[in-house]
Amino acid sequence: MSTALRSVSSHDITSFLAAHELPQPAGAPRRSPAGMVGNTPVLWVGEPFHPVGRGFWAKLEGCNPGGIKDRPGLHMVAAARKRGELAPGARVIESTSGTLGLGLALAGITYGHPVTLVTDPGMEPLMVHQLRALGAHVDVVTEPHPVGGWQEARRQRVRELLHRTPSAWCPDQYNNPDNVAAYAPLALELTVQLGRIDVLVAAVGTGGHSAGIARTLRTFNPELKLVGVDSINSTVFGQPAGPRLMRGLGSSIHPGNVDHAAFDEVHWVAPGEAVWTCRQLARGHYASGGWSVGAVALVANWLARTEPEHTRIAAVFPDGVHRYWNTVYSDEYCRAHDLLRSFPATDPDEIARPGERTVERWTRCTHVTPPRWAAR
Ligand SMILES: Cc1ncc(COP(=O)(O)O)c(C=O)c1O
Repeated sequence: MSTALRSVSSHDITSFLAAHELPQPAGAPRRSPAGMVGNTPVLWVGEPFHPVGRGFWAKLEGCNPGGIKDRPGLHMVAAARKRGELAPGARVIESTSGTLGLGLALAGITYGHPVTLVTDPGMEPLMVHQLRALGAHVDVVTEPHPVGGWQEARRQRVRELLHRTPSAWCPDQYNNPDNVAAYAPLALELTVQLGRIDVLVAAVGTGGHSAGIARTLRTFNPELKLVGVDSINSTVFGQPAGPRLMRGLGSSIHPGNVDHAAFDEVHWVAPGEAVWTCRQLARGHYASGGWSVGAVALVANWLARTEPEHTRIAAVFPDGVHRYWNTVYSDEYCRAHDLLRSFPATDPDEIARPGERTVERWTRCTHVTPPRWAAR
């Protein structure tokens, strides 16, 4: 891959963050829990997955206090306070499958806001208890929306709660540009840690971290290839909506933060394929995570085998293993959902266009266009 690069100094980073009004990277002693966010490690994932010398770098966002969404949780709240959209002490209300909930609980403690998190019965009991322990009010919807599924049901409930509490503010992670901007520091950390990055592999839910990290990395390497990882039965890249077991990645609504034009290719992954990869990673590399980590690692693994030698691949691991003890890492759960009977093929299926057919297993498409709903 040809490159036109310059080296990055700590002065570049400080000026970039100041120009974009983003927090400076955390220093050593922390006086506030927010200071523990960022500067996460990167880990080489090579053998035994790969022939000697081949592999990818995993950015371990599970090393944040909550997970990857500590970054947008803090940044969206700070930016809304600064603009006067969120008054001191006013309530924050948001829909979440968990990870942003942890980030907002952290932001609530940091900036002094009560937090209400709207979720659905799929949220793991561990997560519900953790969020409540962190002082958040957790509101669980009971019925999916007939068209938009659980996600739309959650959003409707948020609208209802906002109507009842006029002083409250909703970050709207699906459409808020601050969700994207929050990831500039992560991209800068990666640049300092790895230097030139040729390929970024990222799961897509709201679209925040893929768009935000790629945008900043491309200021250093305009030729960066962005590979999106989605769930089967997700509408994000133009497949029809269906029931989804995996949480975090994928969507049954149409998040405005997904930057379709930024992607070079997309891969859809099925839950059994993610489970197999999560478990292999945990056994072979210690660091693993949940559904999105398994799906991202499956794709990054394949790219490490098929891209030209010396291509530098960075993959974002949004969280760690603990939350998934009773799903991804539970034989009982996986047997009940028929996730243990097969392991992923060596290569993905290919489709020429996202709408060509409904995919049911790991499938790749190099023609990424905004689905019709996303045209604006
Ligand atoms: C565990 C996990 N992985 C991946 C994602 C997708 O990230 P994004 O919303 O930035 O696209 C999320 C989003 O909630 C998540 O919680």
